[in-house]
Amino acid sequence: MGKPPHRRGMLERDMDHDAALYTSSSSFDRYIFDSAVYVNIAHVKALERLGVISNESAKRAVSSLSSLLKSDLSIPEEVEDVHIYIESILSKQVPEVGEMLALGKSRNDAVVASIKIKIKQRVYGLSLTLLDVVEAMVNRSITESNTIFPIYTHLQRAAPATFGFILQAYAVRLYKTVPQLEAVIEACEECPLGSAACAGTSVPLDREYLARLLGFSRISRNALEATASRDFLLQCLAALLTIAVILSSFAEELVLYSSEEFGFLRMPDEYLATSSIMPQKRNPVVAEIMRTKAAEVLGSLVAVTGMLVRQPSGYNIDLQQTTPKLWKAFDELDSSLKLLERVVKTVEVELSRALHSSMPPTAAIEIANHLTLNYGVSFRKAHEIAGGISRLVISRQLNSQSLKKLFDEKSVKIYLGVEEVLSIMDPLKTVERYAVEGSANPQYVRRFGMELLEELRKVKMRFLEGSERFSKTLQELLD
Ligand code: ARG
Repeated sequence: MGKPPHRRGMLERDMDHDAALYTSSSSFDRYIFDSAVYVNIAHVKALERLGVISNESAKRAVSSLSSLLKSDLSIPEEVEDVHIYIESILSKQVPEVGEMLALGKSRNDAVVASIKIKIKQRVYGLSLTLLDVVEAMVNRSITESNTIFPIYTHLQRAAPATFGFILQAYAVRLYKTVPQLEAVIEACEECPLGSAACAGTSVPLDREYLARLLGFSRISRNALEATASRDFLLQCLAALLTIAVILSSFAEELVLYSSEEFGFLRMPDEYLATSSIMPQKRNPVVAEIMRTKAAEVLGSLVAVTGMLVRQPSGYNIDLQQTTPKLWKAFDELDSSLKLLERVVKTVEVELSRALHSSMPPTAAIEIANHLTLNYGVSFRKAHEIAGGISRLVISRQLNSQSLKKLFDEKSVKIYLGVEEVLSIMDPLKTVERYAVEGSANPQYVRRFGMELLEELRKVKMRFLEGSERFSKTLQELLD
């Protein structure tokens, strides 16, 4: 490609080939290729406004840069980065602008602007996908609001609930990450352009104009911070990590519950593999891979944190190495969420197995509540009796004599019959008896589900509008 323009001054010799490959960001700058083009178009317009380049040249430069968006050029591996590459292309096509492209603009401010534009686009995309998953979970939680399913604490059967209730718990967890995602977008709303390399520039660029052109809502207030801080990457990765952690729990439950030992769920064949040697296997490979993504995203967060630690305040090229970790994390989550939505819609519940594990004594606490609420027995004593009943059920010794003996031993003058005891612990009756908001009572699950769907529609609209407004702004830049 010949000597790149920025090496023609101070340095006499070309870069060592391996050193060039080693330090180049070309291979991962494809992620920000289009944003870097937008940034350069905006800068051309700002230079035109300054009168440094003619209207005619600016027009030709914008059209030449715009055509890069449609091309499938890949950045040659030995080129330092996308910014140098774009400048070199423009310098060939419209030399009078290409030669001016770095006036008042450094790669240091250009790269931050490009990263922020890309993060905004990716967060909009990811949020909409996330909201689709939440919506699928809530819809399914409503249709499964009567599907009895046990809940585990300490991985021990704890209480009867429903599959819908469990799905809703995950829907709520995922939905609660929305403010974090919105905060990430907000953190990317400051336009760094005009900051140049580190201290601003004597070129009187109209920074507000630059920000407006690129859809930023305001300009940054300190050029040093704007060019060299990547704290917003940590914020973004923390949001992604939260989502990945939630997915890993859900995936773990899919793996556990679809195993023959639990047998509560039947994963659709489309998301299973089998063994090359053991033909009976139904391996939940999608869920297993999904479980690993939290580790991958955590790895990215740890790596980026490590790179940022002890960075002196002005730009250092270490910063370049942070973004591939971020794009990888986005990729991992995008594919996980898209698959998760399909799994949520199609996974089947093995009703009898899930019901069986919810049978007495899973709802033993209901005996205690019954004795306390209806007979005034102290809760501690009632808990003891319920424990005794649990033992009788498990050892298959529940009968009227053993029950009477138990109540006598505890000096409680109440006698519940076998039928009554079993009926109190009946899983469906139990969930219908849950009396508080937020419980697994199917009525509450359905009502809350409907409220959530309503909220989701509004939030989705907000993200769609934001995303469309942003795309429109970038599109208008090409005119
Ligand atoms: N490729 C660099 C990055 O991604 C762009 C900025 C390089 N600046 C510099 N002065 N070497 O961070």
